[in-house]
Parts: sequence; structure tokens; C-alpha cells
Amino acid sequence: MNETLQTMKNRYSCRSFTGEAVAQEEVKAIAQAAVQAPSAMNLQPWKIVVIQDKALIEEMDAATMELLSREDKAAYERFLNRGGKLFYNAPCIFAIVKKAGSDLDCGIVTENIALAASSLGLGNVICGMAAMAFATKKGETFKERIIPEGYEFGMSVLVGHAVNREGAPHEADMSKVTYIG
Ligand SMILES: Cc1cc2nc3c(=O)[nH]c(=O)nc-3n(C[C@H](O)[C@H](O)[C@H](O)COP(=O)(O)O)c2cc1C
Repeated sequence: MNETLQTMKNRYSCRSFTGEAVAQEEVKAIAQAAVQAPSAMNLQPWKIVVIQDKALIEEMDAATMELLSREDKAAYERFLNRGGKLFYNAPCIFAIVKKAGSDLDCGIVTENIALAASSLGLGNVICGMAAMAFATKKGETFKERIIPEGYEFGMSVLVGHAVNREGAPHEADMSKVTYIG
């Protein structure tokens, strides 16, 4: 199995980060992998916002947990059971902001980021729940800081150093594959 296939096989959702900052050259390598993603007609209908401001990450996390505690008890309990943090103490969030109607392009960028981080030995998890931060009381402030005019939140990937590097991905279910011919 070549390195690319091995990286895809080993990628898993990391839900516990040490909080240690990611080296800036690694952040840049991941950002480059992101913008190298293919997009329909090469329109690149997205931007990547790399958030490493600890105070902002903490503020978004706390505001969203507060919202979940009131409005989505099941999700709140799930995050409490995973350590009590929406962002699992990740020091770096790659937010993919997108033009309306470009979900597929956004998804492809997202996976590029996750695989690039995995290939560097960094823990990472795709985090759709980050969208909730923009629905909190501080949502407008977060939008002003993170989402450029004409774009909307698409997806995020949390990146950092895994507390326990032994996480395992879901099992590959080969029964989902059909061969014709
Ligand atoms: C679109 C999308 C959104 C996701 N959002 C979250 C999230 O908000 N929080 C989280 O912990 N995991 C999230 N995940 C991770 C999935 O739960 C995970 O990929 C799945 O359980 C398979 O596990 P694996 O990635 O370890 O193979 C998301 C994954 C995708 C593709």
C-alpha cells in the first residue's frame, strides 16, 4: 500500500487534543493542500480561514456549549462525555467558508485538509458542529471576525496534537461496494 492509501486508511476522528500549537510550516502545508483541492470549473467557491487565536476558539466553544445546554441536551451530553469541549481543546481550526450552493466543493476541500493533517501525524476531526457557534448570542461577532462578505460557513476541521495517537477510524465496509463487469 502506498503512502497516500496508508494515510487514507489511518485517518480517524481525533476528539482529544493536547492544546499544543501546530508548527506554522505544518499549518501552511495543510492550507496549501486545501487550496489545491479540485472544484467544479475550478471556480474555487471557498476560502480557508485558519483560526489559531486561543481566546477566540475558547469563546466560540463556551458560547456554543452554553447554547447546546439549553437547546440540544443530547448533543450537550455527548460533548460532556467527550471532555466537555466542542472543539476538544484543538489549537487550530480550519474553517472553510463557501459561496452558497457549493457544498460538494466545500466537502472536497474539507477532506484534503483532514488527509493533509493526518499525513503529517496531526490529530484532526471534521467538525460540522462549529456551525452552531454562529447561532449563539455572540454569533454576529464571530461572523464578523471569521466569515468574509458573500460567504457562509461551510465546514471546519479541528487540527492539533492528539492526546492519544491510537485512535482508530471506522471499519471499512466493503459490502458497500458493487463491481459491474
Ligand atoms: C460532514 C461531517 C461533519 C462532522 N461533524 C462532526 C462534529 O461536529 N463533531 C465530531 O466530533 N465529529 C464530527 N464528524 C466526524 C464523524 O463523526 C466521523 O467521521 C465518523 O464518525 C467516522 O469516524 P472516523 O472519522 O474516525 O472514521 C463529522 C464528519 C463529517 C464528514
